[in-house]
Amino acid sequence: MKGIILAGGSGTRLAPSTHGVNKHLLAVYDKPMIYYPLSVLMLGGIRDILIISTADDIPRFQKVLGDGSAFGIRLHYMEQADPNGIPEAFILAEDFIGYDDVTLILGDNIFYGQGFTSLFRKALKNHQHATIFGSRVKDPERFGVIAFDDNQKVISLEEKPEDPKSDFAAAGLYIYDYRAVQIAKQLPYSGRGETEITDLNREYLKWHQLEVQLLGRGFAWMDAGTHEALFEAAEFVKITQQRQGFKIACLEEIAYYMGYISRETLRQKGESMKKTDYGQYLIEIANRKHTEQYWETIDKNPILELVQNE
Ligand code: TTP
Repeated sequence: MKGIILAGGSGTRLAPSTHGVNKHLLAVYDKPMIYYPLSVLMLGGIRDILIISTADDIPRFQKVLGDGSAFGIRLHYMEQADPNGIPEAFILAEDFIGYDDVTLILGDNIFYGQGFTSLFRKALKNHQHATIFGSRVKDPERFGVIAFDDNQKVISLEEKPEDPKSDFAAAGLYIYDYRAVQIAKQLPYSGRGETEITDLNREYLKWHQLEVQLLGRGFAWMDAGTHEALFEAAEFVKITQQRQGFKIACLEEIAYYMGYISRETLRQKGESMKKTDYGQYLIEIANRKHTEQYWETIDKNPILELVQNE
């Protein structure tokens, strides 16, 4: 399974904050926005990840994330010259995908909730052709809307409909087989001058090969694409982290629990940021009274435990 984070676009709804900085490098409370979608792919066990952005911004992402080795993953970068639509990601990534399956996540999407990792990993494991994630929203007309029949079978998908047939929106996380590349190449441009991911999903739906995984009420799905949404996402992260005492989308912590980096590396990373809560958090995990082997036992490692239960 390959992973793609789409982190281009123009970020016009976040102007003027995005005049000098790519949207996905803006902070959502205590870390850059791109940490959140990257953490989702990492928790899914995906280690080969392509970040797609503009030529100007790619060096900035490289400065923040490097080649991924600090997190035990392999990061690749590719330019999208213009924001021609989400499906263009698959055309750009054709060689990267090859004949593998691929998970695409939008760079401004945040997923969080008890059991999300487990749900996502199950979806990856059971995935056949195309799997998308549906979430109830208050303003479906802003999204790709999924309508179901009485047996929860998908009957239609519509992009930003004036008169939505349901309250369920497709979230910015999609799993496909390699055929997504060829389908993307044939999509028409919509009235917005872009190709639409909803049209790609509709192709799979036509073949009865579209699976929709619903995110229940215990899950938070946010996109941080406007000032209001970015502020709300930051508030959510701050409050959740303060109440629960652990961090959301802490890449080094995930890498450590996945067994990708050593305790010493974790400690060093913490020391390099020790003036921040983030750095202190890493040091605290590295200093916990356990041995490396301790985390290797299934019942002590939250992520290995999930892998075991699959
Ligand atoms: P959008 O929010 O639709 O677009 P945008 O980021 O350009 O923002 P704005 O509407 O404020 O101008 O994009 C959703 C996500 O997908 C976002 O993370 C950017 C990314 N994206 C690309 O990288 N390339 C594209 O061609 C498109 C359409 C989106």
